[in-house]
Amino acid sequence: MDRLLDLRDRLLANQSFQRWASRFALTRPIARHRSRALFDLCAGFVYSQVLAACVRLELFEILSEGPQELHPLARRLGLAPDAATCLLDAAIALKLVSRRGHLRYGLGELGAAMVGNPGIAAMVEHHAMLYADLRDPVALLRGEPAGRSLAAFWPYAEAERPEDLDADSVAAYSRLMAASQPMVASQILDAYPLRRHRCLLDVGGGEGAFLEAVAAEVPGLDLMLFDLPAVAERAERRFARQAATERIGVFGGDFLKDELPRGADIVSLVRILHDHDDARVLTLLRAARRALPPGGTLLLAEPMAETPGAEPSGGAYFGFYLLAMGRGRPRTPAQLAGLVEEAGFEKPHLQTTGNPLLTRVLTARAPGEVSDKVSGRASGR
Ligand SMILES: C[S@@+](CC[C@H](N)C(=O)[O-])C[C@H]1O[C@@H](n2cnc3c(N)ncnc32)[C@H](O)[C@@H]1O
Repeated sequence: MDRLLDLRDRLLANQSFQRWASRFALTRPIARHRSRALFDLCAGFVYSQVLAACVRLELFEILSEGPQELHPLARRLGLAPDAATCLLDAAIALKLVSRRGHLRYGLGELGAAMVGNPGIAAMVEHHAMLYADLRDPVALLRGEPAGRSLAAFWPYAEAERPEDLDADSVAAYSRLMAASQPMVASQILDAYPLRRHRCLLDVGGGEGAFLEAVAAEVPGLDLMLFDLPAVAERAERRFARQAATERIGVFGGDFLKDELPRGADIVSLVRILHDHDDARVLTLLRAARRALPPGGTLLLAEPMAETPGAEPSGGAYFGFYLLAMGRGRPRTPAQLAGLVEEAGFEKPHLQTTGNPLLTRVLTARAPGEVSDKVSGRASGR
């Protein structure tokens, strides 16, 4: 197999072969497809900046009001007509915008999806920090990053005592997580039926957006949230504003040092493990195992490496994102399953999610029989 692949590589690198392949009718579509894929890799950062400009200028919100003519649209964007045309042409090429009748512009198929998912716009905005940190990717790989913006944005990644982080330090990332949580929550709720449980403890639950979605969909379930004290306070304030979330117990602490609250028959870790190295993941999984009764369930949800059809997301995007952040790595379902079993759970089961690019879901049971006596009533901090 290796010899065959070597031969293929030599052929693909050969300029005469490339020229022949682009002329021969049977290989031409493949050659075009490959050269487009390579071009997209070279130009990807430009596409991202076109998207960033659209988001920053609120182009999709403006077009969601209906198709617009160039001059009034350019005025609302605060751009000269030529600059607006440049942005709109780029956005059309990227399917973010489309041409409509009477020389007007409307949403494109990808731009329309942006309107329904404000979390994507929030992610795009915060990518300004990622671009800055990736300015010199080789320096980053050598441990001499050009910038440390993401490490500052996620201060718990490197903090000696994350439990001492104050309200200001956790505000920006907590807001971003809450904005992007709804699209993740719907994937989890569709993949795994929480109705069979009595009480869910969401560990690293942020300011509570996931539990809010759970409360709306599974009204009978008792709920608990554990996060750093400053984040837990944000969750308490958020829940105080929502009638549907009255029965949520909120706990502040460090999940790597403190015991997790008891009483839940299911513990969730949503977008948590990829932030940490294996040793910390094991500490956390063991804490979850101690918090659960025999037969209790662990639910892990996060984007995973080597996801069929979404390979670049885990392998490239999250790999470099977490490198810039300074801690953690994307893991395959098998790597996560290995850690889960090492922490004392039974063999995990990979649930089917509708959009595995956003998140995959792994569940595992603590050994032993489920007891009817497990009470889920949550008490506050
Ligand atoms: C990437 S965010 C995910 C938030 C939420 N689960 C979601 O998906 O929206 C990671 C969360 O873990 C929390 N966290 C990080 N280190 C922690 C620690 N040592 N103890 C408690 N919570 C921690 C952060 O405050 C943050 O809310």
